Amino acid sequence: MSTLDGARIVVTGGAGFIGSHTVDALLATRAPAHVLVLDTLDNGSAENLSRWEADPRFTLVVGDIRDRKLVDSVLSGADVVFHLACLGVRHSLHNPVDNHEVNATGSLTVALAARDAGVTRFIHVSSSEVFGTARTVPMDENHPTWPETVYGAGKLAGEAYSRAMFRTYGMPVVVVRPFNTYGTRSHVEGDSGEIIPRTIVRMINGERPVLYGDGSQTRDFMHVSDTAAGLLALAECEEAIGRTVTIGTGVETSMREVCRLIADALDRPDLTPRMLPARPGDVLRLCADGSTMARLTGLTPNVVLADGIADLVDWFQARATSNMLVTDTNWEPSGVST
Ligand SMILES: NC(=O)c1ccc[n+]([C@@H]2O[C@H](COP(=O)([O-])OP(=O)(O)OC[C@H]3O[C@@H](n4cnc5c(N)ncnc54)[C@H](O)[C@@H]3O)[C@@H](O)[C@H]2O)c1
Repeated sequence: MSTLDGARIVVTGGAGFIGSHTVDALLATRAPAHVLVLDTLDNGSAENLSRWEADPRFTLVVGDIRDRKLVDSVLSGADVVFHLACLGVRHSLHNPVDNHEVNATGSLTVALAARDAGVTRFIHVSSSEVFGTARTVPMDENHPTWPETVYGAGKLAGEAYSRAMFRTYGMPVVVVRPFNTYGTRSHVEGDSGEIIPRTIVRMINGERPVLYGDGSQTRDFMHVSDTAAGLLALAECEEAIGRTVTIGTGVETSMREVCRLIADALDRPDLTPRMLPARPGDVLRLCADGSTMARLTGLTPNVVLADGIADLVDWFQARATSNMLVTDTNWEPSGVST
């Protein structure tokens, strides 16, 4: 029987982008007894979870992972925790202390509460940003961790605290390091806005995309359905306990190529990139080695980037308006333009 069937599951950050897709995958493809989301809604929304609102198996609790009393009460009786609550990489450029408090101290709070609740699985969602820029490609679990931002450093501390719960107390922990994820409900506005959704909204509105530096930076873009499927599969994999596992596609794509794929999907080759100075703390190269993931779970990514982008273009075409148009830069407080 799967670890997830019949389980009482808590998803921190479950109202956010990846968290809400994780909740969808849990409730739609497995048979949990209950799924509870703990989220401040600072960067997520109840709307992301609206399809489960009336489902008796689902509860949304609005609250902060830094509140130990609340986390204890939410985790009481829980079997499985997916820990995704976080503040993002560009937030760490303008608000490093808060970012650390959520990503590092908040992760320790959740891990301690999970240890005390005696959970049977703790899935700690970390990030490829713990690596810093690639020294060798593709990047497997043994690649050195030299984060370049406070976000990357806080995520590394958070995952280390979870591993400590495994090593010291035997808590069944799996640490997962997703690479860049894209798909529906990804953020457009504010400091969480990522290149793919921002570029799609710009180009739908007839604006040229914006690239930083020379646009040759690369990322490994994974569709959110593949990321969520990976998290569930690792939660169900006995052999993954105590391990740190990277999940990505193994395909390295430059920012210039992303703009070209979006231009192709919209049939707007005339909208060529506008070049701006390099972003602070921008990692130059990231590309995953997904072989551990494939060996442990038998899963490999399903969605090819060009297809995922075409789907996302359709999704935004049904929603995007000029009111969603974004500033050129989004790492200052409130997305103030330079
Ligand atoms: N998006 C990516 O490309 C990516 C890549 C690698 C790893 N990750 C990791 O995946 C996880 C989810 O990322 P996402 O992109 O969905 O981000 P997101 O911002 O959409 O989701 C994070 C959620 O956490 C909530 N949150 C923030 N502070 C909180 C607090 N103190 N207490 C409770 N909830 C709080 C936010 O409201 C939000 O809903 C994060 O741990 C992130 O580090 C994301």
